[in-house]
Amino acid sequence: MVELLSERVSRIAPSATFAVKAKANALKAKGVDVLSFGLGEPDFDTPQHIKDAAKKALDEGFTKYTAAAGIPELREGIASKMKEQNSVECSAANIIVSNGAKHSLHNIFQAMLNPGDEVIILSPYWVSYLEQIKLSEGKPIIVDCDEQFQPIPDKIREAITDNTKMIVVNSPNNPTGAVFPKASLKAVADIALENDVYILSDECYENFVYGGAEHHSVASLSPEIAEKTITVNAFSKTFAMTGWRVGYAVAPEPLVKAMSSLQGQTTSNVNSIAQKAVIAALEGSLDDVKNMAKAFDERRKFAVDAFNSIDGVKCNKPEGAFYLFPYVDGLYTEKVKGSSAFCDFLLEEAHVALVPGVAFGLDSCVRFSCASSLESIEKGLKQIKEATKAL
Ligand SMILES: Cc1ncc(COP(=O)(O)O)c(C=O)c1O
Repeated sequence: MVELLSERVSRIAPSATFAVKAKANALKAKGVDVLSFGLGEPDFDTPQHIKDAAKKALDEGFTKYTAAAGIPELREGIASKMKEQNSVECSAANIIVSNGAKHSLHNIFQAMLNPGDEVIILSPYWVSYLEQIKLSEGKPIIVDCDEQFQPIPDKIREAITDNTKMIVVNSPNNPTGAVFPKASLKAVADIALENDVYILSDECYENFVYGGAEHHSVASLSPEIAEKTITVNAFSKTFAMTGWRVGYAVAPEPLVKAMSSLQGQTTSNVNSIAQKAVIAALEGSLDDVKNMAKAFDERRKFAVDAFNSIDGVKCNKPEGAFYLFPYVDGLYTEKVKGSSAFCDFLLEEAHVALVPGVAFGLDSCVRFSCASSLESIEKGLKQIKEATKAL
């Protein structure tokens, strides 16, 4: 019988965060009050001036197709932002606007990978890198970070082969919240230069860094590194705009052109109204973003201490993003063995939803998102502490 699905699509694993959501919803449907800490999006509303710009665009009839790579005004605005905020030299010709960072990443893999090309991913990693690389017929090569979730340059060097095409770097990191210091980024970039491979730097959480940590764009480290780096970013997390779907890539011009052709034949432009809205985000103040970061910082501090007060749990203090990735393997038992079983246990016994670390490449941990109010974090951690006493 003819196969319904392609081999390509059969290779993709479903999203772990959606699986958690489905389980939590099933419990909610039975009337249980479930606290969800699985979410990867800010619990804040999009700032008003951004919404106003979208309303204005709509009222002015800005509702037609635009250039596939984005309207010139937006590409120029992003290039200016990259120069001013990230110290990355570029022009509008180096910018392509896509439907969120996820779409930028997919198009980069599609435009750069040949079958069998190897892509180094640092573990723990954000789930979609792995699946997108496989979808583009590339081969993900996983290299573990250390226990503090920092890259180990020697391990990365050892993983390089003649087939290596690029190294993916994500700082501030999802799921660990780790921020890679400038020296680590430089060490990874030097390995890329020595071996003539590219760096793909996902900087979606750049505005969420705490306690003196600093975000550095890989492409800002030297002109040679800039030439070998493709930067991905989005308005999604920074401006609490996950549903608007606007992300971008900063890349060498030939790659931008190839991705524009790809977009032109597949999705075409990003929603015209959303493009106008993010111009307002670029031009407006970052006060709302700073307030969000302040709230995440406060929640992070509380949650780290609360996790570390549970016997058998060890939680690094993340310096960025809005996730915690505590080690919970000290609580694993014969019956509750591994992060998936542990998350099922927490859902059933503590009525809290977390994402199993195995989905991000590390079964000793679970991911806890601080994108909920401090009150619900306090309540959730109390319930976790109480329930885990039985283990
Ligand atoms: C590290 C990382 N990169 C990219 C994305 C995708 O962002 P967007 O919603 O802009 O597609 C996410 C979203 O969770 C993420 O955590």
